Amino acid sequence: MFSSIKQKIILIYIFLILIPLVIINYTAIENIKQSTFRDIEVDSLKTANIIGDLSRNNMDNLVNLKRIVKQYSSASGERAIILDKDARVLADSFHTLENETIHNNEIKGALGLEEKIGYYNEEDKNILQVAVPVSVVVEEQRQAMGAVLVSVNIDDAVKHVMDFRIKLISISAGAAAIGIIVAAVVSGRISAPIVELSGAARQIGQGKFGYTVNIKGKDEIGKLAENFNLMSNELYRIDQGRSQFIGDVSHELKTPLASIKALIDSLIYGKDDIETYREYLADIDSEVDRLTNLIQKLLSLTKIKEQGLHLTEVPLKELTEDSVKIIKPLAQSSDVQIKVHIQNNPTVLCDPERITEVLLNLIDNSLKYTDPTETGKYVYITGRKMADYYLLNIEDNGIGIEEKDLESIFGKFYRSDLSRSRDTGGAGIGLSIVYNILEAHGWQIEAKSELGIGTTFEIRIPNKSLSIA
Ligand SMILES: Nc1ncnc2c1ncn2[C@@H]1O[C@H](COP(=O)(O)OP(=O)(O)OP(=O)(O)O)[C@@H](O)[C@H]1O
Ligand SMILES: [Mg+2]
Repeated sequence: MFSSIKQKIILIYIFLILIPLVIINYTAIENIKQSTFRDIEVDSLKTANIIGDLSRNNMDNLVNLKRIVKQYSSASGERAIILDKDARVLADSFHTLENETIHNNEIKGALGLEEKIGYYNEEDKNILQVAVPVSVVVEEQRQAMGAVLVSVNIDDAVKHVMDFRIKLISISAGAAAIGIIVAAVVSGRISAPIVELSGAARQIGQGKFGYTVNIKGKDEIGKLAENFNLMSNELYRIDQGRSQFIGDVSHELKTPLASIKALIDSLIYGKDDIETYREYLADIDSEVDRLTNLIQKLLSLTKIKEQGLHLTEVPLKELTEDSVKIIKPLAQSSDVQIKVHIQNNPTVLCDPERITEVLLNLIDNSLKYTDPTETGKYVYITGRKMADYYLLNIEDNGIGIEEKDLESIFGKFYRSDLSRSRDTGGAGIGLSIVYNILEAHGWQIEAKSELGIGTTFEIRIPNKSLSIA
């Protein structure tokens, strides 16, 4: 019962409408009742008291009493009765009750020296009766000599109050009905998008990433829907990325495995020549190296996200020179000269192991993608302070990167056609590792290149990661 938001909102609305309506109705009807009947009561009491005053000295004179009741009741349209102290009627303006004894609450009260008012409904007529005492003071004591009873037909007043009540109740019922209709519409408007969002969340829960809702609006639900769609699209993107990644990894693993398999097959079914064996085993060895390298890089890629960074402050110059030392033998065998020139020697806040990885990957690329026609092959690592950051350049005079490839090289498994055609054994992961590590540090990288001239990777180290000696 009342489990849905729609029902709850309608229920709250009904309470909010009904409670004030009931209060307003009750007080308005009570007020009109009181003001209407009070006037009649006051008038009747006034008449009764005047008759009482006039009667006081005429209680023995029936003729005078009859004249008094006649005069006052005919003037006001009321019935006036004068009774003696035994409740016997002395004079009645309607002449029907003379000499009879009347016992009712009002008369009883009046004979006990009180003014009394009573309402009656007799034969479909609404009657107001007031009774006042006719009293004298004997030995400082007030005594009732009799009573005056005035009765008035109040049908008109009752009808007036009734009409008012009917009018008020119908207006209230109309207002309540409109309120409930509005509540139903409003609650529908509020709950419909929530129902839609809930359905969409279920779809995403079932793996339909990218499922979006069509809910517009500037309110909280509109914002929720907008963020929901963003989330769904992002999940879709991540899911696609993951599938793509798995596909690429499998593909990259398959190639060296296929050549290892082919080499082994040739060994099994080929010539029994020890030289051939050696040659094939060397090929297998290099393929295994390639696989190991690939797997290491894949692990490195996932490590950045999982393990986070171990930040310490290190001098950039030493960090760079240490990296160069590691790769020097490779540079020598590739006949490439490496030069380092770091201005200001800033101390940088970084994970030194990861930044070394970045530098090694970038220098490794420069050593791999050299221009064979070039005689003085080089890699220059230079650093200088700019206004908002420290600029670290890794520049080579290698084959360069085509304009169309520049945007994509930081993506996973991306290799330009140029580098594919040379068998450097790369998998296209190096630069995505570089990018991820720098991103985790909050540093930026950009590649600038010209075909046949060379490539420069620019790393921007923001001031917040720097303290310059
Ligand atoms: N210094 C460079 N000169 C010319 N081309 C480059 C250079 N650095 C990167 N590239 C191009 O960018 C591509 C991506 O580089 P990345 O380091 O990601 O992969 P890789 O070197 O091919 O393989 P891996 O680094 O995974 O062994 C390279 O294949 C190459 O086409
Ligand atoms: Mg590389």
